[in-house]
Amino acid sequence: MENITKICCIGAGYVGGPTMAMIAKKCPHIQVTVVDLNEARIKAWNDEDVNNIPVYEPGLSDVVAEARGRNLFFSTEVDKAIDEAQMIFISVNTPTKTYGAGKGQAADLKWIELCARQIANISKDNKIIVEKSTLPVRTASAIKDILTHTGNGVQFQILSNPEFLAEGTAVEDLDAPDRVLIGGDNTPEGKVAVQALVDIYANWVPKERILTTNVWSSELSKLTANAFLAQRVSSINSLTEICEQTEADINEVAKAIGTDSRIGPKFLKASVGFGGSCFQKDILNLVYIARSYGLQEVADYWEQVIIMNDHQKRRFANQIIKNLYNTVNGKKIAFFGWAFKKDTNDTRESAAIYVADHLLNEQAHISVYDPKVPENQVYADLDYLNTREAEENKAGVQVITDPYEACKGSHAIAVLTEWDEFKGYDWQRIYDNMLKPAKIFDGRNLLDADKLRAIGFQVRSIGTNVLDK
Ligand code: UDX
Ligand code: UDX
Ligand code: ADP
Repeated sequence: MENITKICCIGAGYVGGPTMAMIAKKCPHIQVTVVDLNEARIKAWNDEDVNNIPVYEPGLSDVVAEARGRNLFFSTEVDKAIDEAQMIFISVNTPTKTYGAGKGQAADLKWIELCARQIANISKDNKIIVEKSTLPVRTASAIKDILTHTGNGVQFQILSNPEFLAEGTAVEDLDAPDRVLIGGDNTPEGKVAVQALVDIYANWVPKERILTTNVWSSELSKLTANAFLAQRVSSINSLTEICEQTEADINEVAKAIGTDSRIGPKFLKASVGFGGSCFQKDILNLVYIARSYGLQEVADYWEQVIIMNDHQKRRFANQIIKNLYNTVNGKKIAFFGWAFKKDTNDTRESAAIYVADHLLNEQAHISVYDPKVPENQVYADLDYLNTREAEENKAGVQVITDPYEACKGSHAIAVLTEWDEFKGYDWQRIYDNMLKPAKIFDGRNLLDADKLRAIGFQVRSIGTNVLDK
């Protein structure tokens, strides 16, 4: 294969958009076209004001501004981009199936398959296909199957190149990744394809950080990396419940165990539960794969990570109810944060959605403030659960763009996302405008509880056993 000069990426989402923007920035000699069926999304990526791009990530608009129109293009002309590219990244969504066999566990590969068929139909010359979406192990073989039976003589090489960026730090993660993982076939053609992709990353990533493996190892490593990370969060969260019953403090415990170099300090932050599009989906995939091979104990082991996470979200909601004298009926509860973590406008699987759902079942009134999540997204997330009619969600939840307004007249504030700005608020002003006793349920251990108590708040931080002193 000649040097790669034209890349196409199918899917302009949270992974495809930022990843391609970084490749375009670092490789001005390569033309990168990101395509999507969603016209509104492409329009937003092309918005004259680069601050209106559809993915909020610190630093991303600068990267897009630098490369867009030079060698980075966003388009809805999927067929044309496929036809012209030598290398095609597939970065479409792979949600958990909501129907049929594997419902609630297996990944729905409908969109991946559609892409593969489209590539098969359009391609007139040899191409390298790169799986970028997180996929169940052996998806590459399904893609290969579709691509090798077209009968038109075009040769495809399939690579697995999972993306490890975390939202909120996507630009730093892409700029200086811990590693880049590329899986390919161990044939001469496979090796050439792997090398072509290595050469692209080598424009900015040190060679020793570019790992090459076989396709299956690469696919499994992605699922496992996310499963391990999620497991750490569930592990620390499982201890919050013990801490709340004893005199132990989760922050002290996390620090004490994290200083063991074998354990390490990262990813030990107690929370109301992990969210995001990957953790739950990937573990469910792992569980599904294990079960499909009859590996019951392996499946049960990983499933427990999800069970603990669901428990943590429910437990947080129940604590609010219990501390508000066992009823939240008609009470106003302010939510600080709706995104699944700070510095992103992504809300997929956010703990806030499930906590809100639980409180709405108890007839609470919720007013949500999140610095980056728009009103329609909050309603869409709740409606997606199908727990109640959209009208009822609208009646029970208000989305407010001013944090002080959001908690005016409320019985309690629940911190669901660890946005930095929450720390800097005028908490005296907030206290003055709330019903008393004014309660704070800090699901992220974000706020300085002692300071808030000095103002008069009753504070419960996750993993500590004091409501008020
Ligand atoms: C352990 C803790 O490491 C130590 O901090 C504590 O004070 C006592 O318990 P120890 O039991 O002596 O120490 O040995 P350790 O090196 O932790 O190994 C424990 C077991 O885990 C061994 O059987 C070891 O073979 C196994 N192990 C360890 C693995 O199977 N894989 C690993 O990657 C590490
Ligand atoms: C994750 C992986 O980190 C990334 O490598 C992969 O490519 C995609 O999935 P992401 O979902 O964007 O990234 O965010 P991450 O920072 O991993 O956080 C996931 C969830 O865990 C968030 O809800 C976060 O708040 C929560 N979390 C994380 C904790 O509750 N405690 C922690 O210590 C860390
Ligand atoms: P991720 O977090 O994995 O990037 P997103 O849902 O943010 O997931 O983005 C996936 C994108 O892929 C969506 O914008 C969707 O419209 C797009 N997409 C899905 N299927 C196709 C397809 N066959 N052709 C083009 N775009 C597609």
